[in-house]
Amino acid sequence: MPSTVGAPQLRELITAESIQARIAELGAQISEDYAGRNPVLVCILKGSMPFFVDLARRIRIPVRFDYLAVESYRGTKSTGVVKFTADLSGPIEGRHVLLVEDIVDTGLTMGYLLESLGARRPASLRVVTLLDKPARRQTDVDLAYTGFQIPDEFVVGYGLDYEQYFRNLPYVAVLVEIPALPADD
Ligand code: IMP
Ligand code: MG
Repeated sequence: MPSTVGAPQLRELITAESIQARIAELGAQISEDYAGRNPVLVCILKGSMPFFVDLARRIRIPVRFDYLAVESYRGTKSTGVVKFTADLSGPIEGRHVLLVEDIVDTGLTMGYLLESLGARRPASLRVVTLLDKPARRQTDVDLAYTGFQIPDEFVVGYGLDYEQYFRNLPYVAVLVEIPALPADD
């Protein structure tokens, strides 16, 4: 399966360089906003992993890492059904929590997360998302930090997948054609 720039099914939307430049800005802003605090950065697996790692390395205050996993998507259509497949490793009561997400589309996943984590009474609970697709929003979610707003197109790369593939691309691309997936080996 070709999965590089120039592959017929991919149209590059955000270059690796622009992503990294924007992450440097977000990291600086977050470091300033949370100065004097030591927030918990929560990586929402699997898609947020590259963004989480690059963003964390641009944050210049003490932070702790935690992880959770949700599943909310099949193919290119949101099901609206959110399932917690892995929970945080520790309590967040009284902690400043920053959720690191790859993309907010309908907002259903983030709405669900904010509600269920908010019930654990963190000192604060905010969201940083790399991508925001406002055209498809079904529920209002407050995004404290956004990397890029994108049009209503299905994108892959930099953590985002189509059927679990393309997460490894260093850039974000529109999937213009449904690709044939490799057979499992
Ligand atoms: P939401 O619940 O509709 O906001 O969708 C959130 C999740 O759907 C994201 O965390 C992604 O996993 C997935 N998703 C939404 N849009 C895209 C896309 O364009 N490409 C890949 N995954 C997407
Ligand atoms: Mg996701």
